[in-house]
Amino acid sequence: MGVWRSNRCSVGPRGVMLALPLLVLLLHAASPARGQASPDSDGVVIAQADLQGLQAIRQALVDPRGFLRGWNGTGLGACSGEWAGVKCARGKVVALQLPFKALAGALSDKVGQLTALRKLSLHDNALGGQVPAAIGFLRDLRGLYLFNNRFAGAVPPALGGCAFLQTLDLSGNSLSGTIPSSLANATRLYRLDLAHNNLSGAVPASLTSLRFLESLSLNNNNLTGEMPSTIGNLRMLRGLSLSSNLISGSIPDGIGNLSRLQFLDLSDNLLGGSLPVSLFNVTSLVEIKLDGNGIGGHIPEAIDGLKNLTKLSMRRNALVGEIPAATGNLSRLSLLDVSENNLTGGIPGSLSSLANLNSFNVSYNNLSGPVPVVLSNRFNSSSFVGNLQLCGFNGSDICTSASSPATMASPPLPLSQRPTRRLNRKELIIAVGGICLLFGLLFCCVFIFWRKDKKDSAPSQKGTKGTATKDAGKPGTVAGKGSDADGDGGGKLVHFDGPLSFTADDLLCATAEILGKSTYGTVYKATMEDGSYVAVKRLREKIAKSSKEFEGEVNALGKLRHPNLLSLRAYYHGPKGEKLLVFDFMTKGNLASFLHARAPDSAPVSWSTRMNIAVGVARGLHHLHTDASMVHGNLTSSNILLDEDNNAKIADCGLPRLMSAAANNNVVAAAGALGYRAPELSKLKKANTKTDIYSLGMIMLELLTGKSPGDTTNGLDLPQWVASVVEEEWTNEVFDLELMKDAATGSETGEELVKTLKLALHCVDPSSVARPEAQQVLRQLEQIKPSIAVSATSSFTGEPSHTTATATTITDDTRSTTTE
Ligand SMILES: *[C@@H]1O[C@H](CO)[C@@H](O)[C@H](O)[C@H]1NC(C)=O
Ligand SMILES: *[C@@H]1O[C@H](CO)[C@@H](O)[C@H](O)[C@H]1NC(C)=O
Ligand SMILES: *[C@@H]1O[C@H](CO)[C@@H](O)[C@H](O)[C@H]1NC(C)=O
Ligand SMILES: *[C@@H]1O[C@H](CO)[C@@H](O)[C@H](O)[C@H]1NC(C)=O
Ligand SMILES: *[C@@H]1O[C@H](CO)[C@@H](O)[C@H](O)[C@H]1NC(C)=O
Ligand SMILES: *[C@@H]1O[C@H](CO)[C@@H](O)[C@H](O)[C@H]1NC(C)=O
Ligand SMILES: *[C@@H]1O[C@H](CO)[C@@H](O)[C@H](O)[C@H]1NC(C)=O
Ligand SMILES: *[C@@H]1O[C@H](CO)[C@@H](O)[C@H](O)[C@H]1NC(C)=O
Ligand SMILES: *[C@@H]1O[C@H](CO)[C@@H](O)[C@H](O)[C@H]1NC(C)=O
Ligand SMILES: *[C@@H]1O[C@H](CO)[C@@H](O)[C@H](O)[C@H]1NC(C)=O
Ligand SMILES: *[C@@H]1O[C@H](CO)[C@@H](O)[C@H](O)[C@H]1NC(C)=O
Ligand SMILES: *[C@@H]1O[C@H](CO)[C@@H](O)[C@H](O)[C@H]1NC(C)=O
Repeated sequence: MGVWRSNRCSVGPRGVMLALPLLVLLLHAASPARGQASPDSDGVVIAQADLQGLQAIRQALVDPRGFLRGWNGTGLGACSGEWAGVKCARGKVVALQLPFKALAGALSDKVGQLTALRKLSLHDNALGGQVPAAIGFLRDLRGLYLFNNRFAGAVPPALGGCAFLQTLDLSGNSLSGTIPSSLANATRLYRLDLAHNNLSGAVPASLTSLRFLESLSLNNNNLTGEMPSTIGNLRMLRGLSLSSNLISGSIPDGIGNLSRLQFLDLSDNLLGGSLPVSLFNVTSLVEIKLDGNGIGGHIPEAIDGLKNLTKLSMRRNALVGEIPAATGNLSRLSLLDVSENNLTGGIPGSLSSLANLNSFNVSYNNLSGPVPVVLSNRFNSSSFVGNLQLCGFNGSDICTSASSPATMASPPLPLSQRPTRRLNRKELIIAVGGICLLFGLLFCCVFIFWRKDKKDSAPSQKGTKGTATKDAGKPGTVAGKGSDADGDGGGKLVHFDGPLSFTADDLLCATAEILGKSTYGTVYKATMEDGSYVAVKRLREKIAKSSKEFEGEVNALGKLRHPNLLSLRAYYHGPKGEKLLVFDFMTKGNLASFLHARAPDSAPVSWSTRMNIAVGVARGLHHLHTDASMVHGNLTSSNILLDEDNNAKIADCGLPRLMSAAANNNVVAAAGALGYRAPELSKLKKANTKTDIYSLGMIMLELLTGKSPGDTTNGLDLPQWVASVVEEEWTNEVFDLELMKDAATGSETGEELVKTLKLALHCVDPSSVARPEAQQVLRQLEQIKPSIAVSATSSFTGEPSHTTATATTITDDTRSTTTE
């Protein structure tokens, strides 16, 4: 990606030429004298060839829902927004985008007349006929998206003529014939997707010369032959899917040269040979799927080099040898499926330490010996069946000393050291109970905060011990359930409304890892017994208010509910005054690392994603300011968290209310150092809504420029630098290079970028009175990108903005439910 990007966007004749439509737009929009007009609404008339092309395209389409009603008349308005889906620059059509319009009919080959076309997107329609070979005449085409239609016939070899093509997605059609080797002439391709068609023949070796290719999906076709031995030349490749074809031979050794590969799926082919050792050199791998081939050989001990591996699925193969003990080092592993192979030996005890493992299958092999207790507790018999000599899982024989595997891979369990006679039922129950007790004492309630943060450990550790003792009689309770309160009493857990239900013990016994530290305290990711995650913030001692005041405030914060505010789900107040706040866990982490701490080869963050984040933050802040009458006071990109779908959730809302005044002054000072602090705060010392808006403006600038507020350029801070560049009418220079890719494919993005930039500069106005209110920012953002406004509003119905908190208070072995 790095190479590709610098190639596309570097300064120099080519870079300038490619960015031209955007540059024109930016200069227009940035100069107040000329207003927001696009060149074409200034009266540029569409070129004759392009008009004829569009009219021919219209003629061949069937438009049952009337989306193309406006494509009528003389065509004078074709370029000024009257023709849906048409974008022009200087009288030439640069983009034609009509996805999800129920269009049928065919795509006219007159599309070849739109010689300036950069993006052709007609995906998710019902278009039939052939993919016109004339598309190969479009020398400027960057993106061709015709997926999920009914195109038949061959992939036209002429597409190789699109020298600048970056994305070619023809998946989900009925294309047949072979993959033309001429596609390799489109040397800029970075995504090629021909999946879910009926293509036959071999994968052309020529494709491995595409040195910028990041994603190659040819799955679900009828491809035959062997994988190209030169596959290792695709040095930029991050995703490779060839699954569900008829590909034979073995996996080429060259796969070990794909040093950026993250996703590999070769399942359901006719592959044989043995597992190439070089594959285990590809440390970037995140998912490996090799199901249903005939692959033999050993799983090498070196597998633990794949530190980022989360899924390893190799079911229905012919693997032999043992499951390497080193597999237990793959700490991110969530899925391990090696069922239906010929593996021997024991299940390594080291697998017990895989905290994230939630799918496990070793059934139908030739494994022997005892199943590690953690695994037999966590997974049912369908994960283990079909191994005649495996014991110790639910539904199997009890392990005796004779059950120890031929080669002992794990430390023997206490039971297997007992005399060889079979145990009677009573002994068994005692034995199982004993194991559970031992296990409970050893592993279960190792209070993680104690482990990570010894200083504050004493009270929690006590409570933990008490629980383990109490529950000792109950077999199988690894994390000790039953008791709602701490063993020693005195701790108090209060739940606010939400999906979570756990006891104080569950919380204290959860395994956790440190996510980060801030002025307020340390944040942990805690894994609950059911495998779910919560974020736990342990407030630093001595900075919080006294207990009574604290509880009043925290109960108010627990009622705060909004889709863009991180929900406080519970708090725990320990006997020694320790305070834990429990929040929803956000998988994507915070915005600062999302923007600035990504792997150099990770996917760019698109404009619509950034805009969605900006709108989310504005919405959350608006709710905070108006509906909750609160000031945030410490809004930074580090406390904007992102959920699975990159929706923003503001964290740390109202936390200053829990803190003493002295602690809050420190926070204000720290925010200043990061560059989010409004200038007047150096005198004022107290945050208000307008200082929050300043911070919001900085976050918007961060999204637009990809720079941290701390970064200085030529001695100017971020707002000063942006303002100076805008003054010189070089507005496009300020934007994150990644955004130029979005902007190059459609002219509307350029306009949105500039409008958002102006709004952000308005928010960071040195004079606080000049700054807009959160509501105005929100309204303007929604006007700039109406699609975001609609999609995000619908999620509002999910959660009411104010809810009655039903607090379940757990104290000293009583569980009382109070409604406030
Ligand atoms: C074209 O269609 C638009 C929208 O349906 C309509 O307002 C306009 O009058 C039509 N123009 C001509 C010349 O038919
Ligand atoms: C691809 O390039 C080769 C050699 O450069 C040339 O012979 C061939 O015609 C090209 N194919 C297409 C479809 O442009
Ligand atoms: C593959 O080819 C066979 C026979 O030629 C056909 O029945 C099958 O539908 C094809 N598979 C796909 C995915 O089109
Ligand atoms: C796929 O192509 C083969 C010929 O290559 C043909 O026999 C078969 O019917 C096609 N299958 C589908 C689903 O189109
Ligand atoms: C991997 O790349 C190296 C260096 O470019 C090359 O020498 C080697 O032959 C490649 N290995 C395979 C198996 O292709
Ligand atoms: C794996 O990588 C190491 C070092 O990069 C290299 O020496 C070794 O030959 C590679 N092994 C295979 C099987 O490619
Ligand atoms: C593993 O993933 C982390 C992010 O989760 C990334 O920073 C790191 O570079 C990855 N390692 C490799 C070898 O790709
Ligand atoms: C496992 O090994 C046995 C004996 O070597 C062989 O008969 C059997 O086919 C193998 N099973 C698989 C799934 O490879
Ligand atoms: C990996 O696992 C093996 C066997 O469990 C162990 O001996 C080794 O120390 C582990 N290595 C690391 C780096 O954790
Ligand atoms: C299963 O493993 C045992 C030794 O552990 C061996 O004697 C037996 O032949 C193996 N069975 C198959 C089908 O591979
Ligand atoms: C075992 O667990 C799986 C999911 O983990 C579930 O689908 C399956 O029904 C369970 N089987 C039995 C026999 O309980
Ligand atoms: C494990 O694999 C077997 C055989 O493929 C399958 O029948 C079983 O349902 C799987 N169990 C789980 C828990 O995935």
